[in-house]
Amino acid sequence: MSIYKPVSFPKMSPKSDREIQALTKAHYRTFTFRKTIRDFSERPIPEEAIKNCIRVASLAPSGANHQPWHFVAISSKITKIKIRDAAEREEKKFYSSINNDEWLQALEPIGTGPNKLHLETAPWLIVVFAERYGCKIDGTTYKNYYVPESVGIASGFLISAIHQAGLYCLVHTPNPMKFLTKICNRPASNKPVMILAIGHPAKNAKVPYAATLKKPLEQILTTIR
Ligand SMILES: Cc1cc2nc3c(=O)[nH]c(=O)nc-3n(C[C@H](O)[C@H](O)[C@H](O)COP(=O)(O)O)c2cc1C
Repeated sequence: MSIYKPVSFPKMSPKSDREIQALTKAHYRTFTFRKTIRDFSERPIPEEAIKNCIRVASLAPSGANHQPWHFVAISSKITKIKIRDAAEREEKKFYSSINNDEWLQALEPIGTGPNKLHLETAPWLIVVFAERYGCKIDGTTYKNYYVPESVGIASGFLISAIHQAGLYCLVHTPNPMKFLTKICNRPASNKPVMILAIGHPAKNAKVPYAATLKKPLEQILTTIR
């Protein structure tokens, strides 16, 4: 017997084409204000707001609906310092060993370096983990599908929710980042994917000009009618 069980779902009120045009335009406009910042103020963010953003991420589509993700939300100063120290150790190694001119040239206009003060000043860090495989309560494991795609989409939902709340974030990807599994006390099935530093911008925060240049639609869109 099939275990497929169709159920009805809450439907949104239908929109006219004109409303759809206006909504998509307004949404685009909202997102022209999304910027990655690296200088955070110390203004705190309520924990419930962070939970709501993660609730949004939890609604993302995923391969076979396995939801192969886990989020660790950190406001503990001690843990943030541990993460900053470990990330800076890795970054210093990375920057001193890097002899790939192309990579260095790509990073230069963004102005990033091995100093990661934001990992300490941002009021919240969310570490995103991918569940390479799932674990049942009895200890048996099961396969997850399209894990990088699913976690990428959930992270996009999360970043959108952060932006829609009037907050800013930085996607940070130390390389390697295995230390995060240990600091966050996650099982071996969990692979760290990124750290999101979340907060309000510092008074004198600036963004790199290079990051404001986005490819025009003609360059990223092919329409087949
Ligand atoms: C997967 C990924 C990894 C990133 N890693 C870092 C990082 O380690 N450090 C950093 O300063 N910015 C990092 N960024 C932020 C990018 O530099 C930033 O998104 C880009 O410059 C465009 O700027 P915008 O987000 O303001 O549009 C990362 C972004 C993504 C999507």
